[in-house]
Amino acid sequence: MVSEAYIQIAPSVLAADFSNLGQQVRDVTDAGADLIHVDIMDGQFVPSISFGEVVVDAIRKSTHLPLNIHLMVLEPDNLLPSFMKAPTDQIIVHAEACRDLHRTVTQIKDGGHQVGVAINPDTSISAVEEVLPQLDIVLVMTVNPGFGGQSFIPETMDKVKRLREIIRSEGYATQIEVDGGVKADWTAQDSVRAGATILVAGTAIFNNQEPVSQSMERMRGCIHGVIST
Ligand code: DX5
Ligand code: ZN
Repeated sequence: MVSEAYIQIAPSVLAADFSNLGQQVRDVTDAGADLIHVDIMDGQFVPSISFGEVVVDAIRKSTHLPLNIHLMVLEPDNLLPSFMKAPTDQIIVHAEACRDLHRTVTQIKDGGHQVGVAINPDTSISAVEEVLPQLDIVLVMTVNPGFGGQSFIPETMDKVKRLREIIRSEGYATQIEVDGGVKADWTAQDSVRAGATILVAGTAIFNNQEPVSQSMERMRGCIHGVIST
């Protein structure tokens, strides 16, 4: 059983107001975020380009929280040193984007960082099974990567459940993260029930409808008391 106390919320700055980025990061930090999710898109692995090292350095200066750095980047090995700067940051690569996943995972671990591997909605969990014992995080994409504001794909929950089962039965310490379309509604609740312990939320947290503190509160309230099956 995983209780609500262990669920981490990671606001994704991709949905933030970039003309006011430092303040937005401070606001979610003050509102009780556990991690700051940072999406790096290269225009190759995914169609769009987001931002790079310089912006990540600026984000790091605006929070004491670990950055949860999601590299949507083809063959990330050469780029890793640009993002492996603060030892507390978590580095996540895509299984589909690495030529030799084991080597990339080892490179990140050897740098002293927590390491995660992400899988797209159409990627089977077998793509991560061999490296699972080494991972701090397995990220199950709940939308196709590349853009914020897409709809949650419920079929991905089956993979979360199967991964939770393996992690539990093998006694691994790996966290399960979900990313994409997660809101303060059934999407967050089903993710927690299936066994996710890190929820990424972009547009659900950074929107112009309410202060981020209120969005964070609604997210917390929504998962309060939801217990994994
Ligand atoms: C999608 C990104 C997500 C995105 C989530 O490719 O990896 O982190 O920012 O945004 P929402 O929560 O709006 O779907
Ligand atoms: Zn992401």
